[in-house]
This record gives sequence, C-alpha cells and structure tokens, in this order.
Amino acid sequence: MQEIKSLSHWIKASGFTVILTGAGMSTESGLPDFRSKSGWWRNIDPSTVATVDALETNYSLFHDFYSMRLKTLEACSPHEGHYILAEWEKRNLVHSIVTQNVDGFHKAAGSSRVYELHGSLRSIRCSGCGKPGTVEDFLDRVACRSCGERLRPGVVLFGEMLPQDAWECALRDIKRADLVIVIGTSLQVYPANQLPTMTKGRAVLINYEAYSGGSRFDMVLQGKARDTLIELNRIIHKSKVS
Ligand code: APR
Repeated sequence: MQEIKSLSHWIKASGFTVILTGAGMSTESGLPDFRSKSGWWRNIDPSTVATVDALETNYSLFHDFYSMRLKTLEACSPHEGHYILAEWEKRNLVHSIVTQNVDGFHKAAGSSRVYELHGSLRSIRCSGCGKPGTVEDFLDRVACRSCGERLRPGVVLFGEMLPQDAWECALRDIKRADLVIVIGTSLQVYPANQLPTMTKGRAVLINYEAYSGGSRFDMVLQGKARDTLIELNRIIHKSKVS
C-alpha cells in the first residue's frame, strides 16, 4: 500500500507531529465507541445520561451508565497501537497526543504529553464542592465525604466547557504541527472536530468507516487503528535499519 509508505516518510520527515484520537482508537481494546453500529449511542440517548441535566435530575440513570463504563474500562487495557504511539514519542516521532477519549489508555501505555480534551472517566469528583472522590465510592453511590453531594466522573458532559489547559495546549500544538494524524473519530463533536482544520501542516485521517465530513485531509487511510499503526511502525523500523 503506497499511501502507508508515504505516511511513514511524512512521519520521519516531520519535525512536529501531533496525534488526535477518538473512541475508534480504543475499540480494539474492547471499549465500544459511540456512533458506529456497536457504539454506546446506538442504544442510549446521550441526552439522558451524558448531560448536566441527567446528573442533576436523573442521577440513578447517570450513575448506572458511568458505573457500567467504569466496570467495562476495568476489564480492558491499552493495545499495541497505544504502545507504538508512546514509543514514537520517546523516539521524537510524535510530539503530543490530543485525545477525546476518557479511558486514560495513552498515559497508561507510556505517552507523557497527552491532552485529554474530554477529561478522564477514573478521575471522580464531587458535583458540589469539586473535591476528589474515589472510583469505589462512586460505584458504591457513597456521597461526597466532605459535603454530602453526589459524586461524578471527571468527564466533560455535553454542554460543559472543555478543560481550558488541555484545550489551549492542544490548539497550540496543532497550530504548530507539520503533521496531524487523526485516528478513530467521526469528527462529529465540537470543538475537537475543528482541530484538523487548524494546522498549517499536513492532516491525515486513519478511520475504519469512510469519512464523509467537510474537513480536508491530505491522506485518508480506511482501516483499523491498531493494524495500521503496527504496519506503519514496521515500515518505519525497516527503513531505519536500512
Ligand atoms: N480503528 C479505526 N477507526 C475505528 C475503529 C478502529 N478499530 N473502531 C471504530 N472506528 C471509527 C468509527 O468508524 C467511527 O468513525 O472511529 C469513529 C468513532 O467515532 P465516534 O463513535 O463518534 O467517537 P468519537 O469521534 O471519539 O466521539 C467524540 O463524542 O459522545 C462524545 O464525548 C464523546 O469523546 C466522544 C465524542
């Protein structure tokens, strides 16, 4: 496949590469994505569970949904693609990772410069006083031990602001990048879906389903994240040896 060979050259020639990932980066770890046929939103209306309104007016449904996601997460782990991206950071082939994912897999695989635009499922906090809580207390529906309010995961709910520091770092790096590689996202959710259009460099999409959005890409590779990263890494290693 000539395109994947060209991409390996772009990666090696780039002085500043940023990776943008979505839920498709973690489906091969066993975590469902949201909008493909086996995704969370196929059977659940996000407005009933992933909003502040759901947190405030329907805590039992909110709690059931995020407890299920936390338990699913506990049974899953990063796959080889996450580890390859972490290795590329160590080899200065990748500068940073911007992720919409809340599974923490990029950091767990060893990537250090990771901007979690939508927060992290395992970072529990009180919805009232904001003090940190534990996953165990959240799962057991224990109220905040400081103020008695309800606990929630530290994920960005629809309608909430993104963590400012993560967004600003992501935007700074994307603007500066020579190469942005977008992996496993339908690019349906604002403002993350604006990022690929904000780089001065090349933009590449690796996605399982065909992309029908408006962003322009210099290359679109239709395929699975893990397999594509393994193949890319093989080519890069081979060319390095020779
Ligand atoms: N390899 C590559 N692409 C994949 C794979 C895979 N193994 N598995 C799924 N995909 C693709 C799907 O075809 C789909 O186009 O990943 C994309 C995932 O899109 P979504 O399910 O919409 O997930 P995402 O884009 O990350 O959603 C963004 O929406 O609900 C919110 O906060 C949630 O962060 C999430 C945001």
